[in-house]
Amino acid sequence: MRKIEYTTHPITYQMNPDRSMRSNKELIELCKSQGVKGYSGKKKEDLLALLEAVPAVSDVPAVSDVPAVSAVSAVSAVSAVESLPRPLRMVDLFAGTGAFSHAFQETGQVQVVFANDMVDHSKQIYDANFTHTLTLQDLNDVSVTDVPTHHLLTGGFPCQPFSIAGKQEGFNDVRSNVFWKILEILDHHRPPFVILENVKNLVSHDQGNTFTTIKRHLTDRGYHLCVRVLNTAEITGIPQHRERIYIVCIQSKAIADRFTLDFPAIPKRTIESLLDPADDIPDKYYYTDKSSTWALVQESVTKRNTIYQYRRVYVRENKSNECPTLTANMGAGGHNVPLVVDDRGIRKLTPRECFRFQGFPESYVLPALSDSHLYKLAGNAVSVPVVRLIADRMMALLS
Ligand SMILES: C[S@@+](CC[C@H](N)C(=O)[O-])C[C@H]1O[C@@H](n2cnc3c(N)ncnc32)[C@H](O)[C@@H]1O
Repeated sequence: MRKIEYTTHPITYQMNPDRSMRSNKELIELCKSQGVKGYSGKKKEDLLALLEAVPAVSDVPAVSDVPAVSAVSAVSAVSAVESLPRPLRMVDLFAGTGAFSHAFQETGQVQVVFANDMVDHSKQIYDANFTHTLTLQDLNDVSVTDVPTHHLLTGGFPCQPFSIAGKQEGFNDVRSNVFWKILEILDHHRPPFVILENVKNLVSHDQGNTFTTIKRHLTDRGYHLCVRVLNTAEITGIPQHRERIYIVCIQSKAIADRFTLDFPAIPKRTIESLLDPADDIPDKYYYTDKSSTWALVQESVTKRNTIYQYRRVYVRENKSNECPTLTANMGAGGHNVPLVVDDRGIRKLTPRECFRFQGFPESYVLPALSDSHLYKLAGNAVSVPVVRLIADRMMALLS
């Protein structure tokens, strides 16, 4: 079997220090990646002048300009000296519940060496479930040198900051957007694998400019991308409709060529199989005739093995026997927590049941947080079994 060589050491770009040796096209790419504006229609001298203000050491090269990264991929693909060490070292950014950490550590071949989030309830759930602790800090304030070397970086990064991506304005303030911070970490550590996750409409956001920008910055760094929208309900058996985009970035072309995000559809479990027995559910989750929405809810929520959503003035029945996508704002203001009917009546899903609909195991500790915080953590999370499918496939390719 061919062995594969990787490095986790920071790789310095082997850039041509003299920009005047570069073609116009390359200089334009450089302008784009550096957020330098006004390059359109410019001659070479003007492009060089525009780039003058940007230090050459931070050049972000076009794919064809990345000898160091390409060299690693080439070595990885052919000459291969030794396998990646086990356990693989993983960094979990925007860790939230720790779903990425959990799913990868469950393979037995990965050890999380750094996890970060900026909200306290994330730290509480994370620290309750792992032996290492989560670094509670705005990622923008984390120095790349404080992030340990690693082989795999994961992140379900927030996507709101991309509202003006593609029109270039957002590129002026590097700190305004954590995506640039991810890139800074990648530039410093060059992990062989990166997995990013986001909402499905990241692809269509800003007429596709956002996604084009993201892909360009990743491929410019020598990564081969495998991108796919995956639906929890289709491929894991967990009946939650949750379509999320997964961007798997692999340094080695040989590995990337054999990696896919195609997973077969499997039968869904029933809704009822994920619900707790009615006797175990605290009263506070049940609707009563004292609830202001009682009449509407009582009239609408009638079928077993079905989940309903309260939507301000009406109740929507999910006719696919799936839980609708759990969201971060469910539980805030009482809206959008999915409803079911059981032996005792009509009620909201409990936080534990929401974690179950995200594929967390029963052993996953839910700390003593308010329900609204737990619902938010569950609604923000990646589905554990989706990540596990990706993790297993990745590990199989490396063994
Ligand atoms: C979509 S959630 C990711 C959830 C996570 N993947 C999971 O499975 O639970 C995004 C997370 O990013 C965190 N976050 C947003 N901006 C951040 C920043 N600047 N620094 C650190 N964490 C941040 C939020 O607190 C939130 O937990």
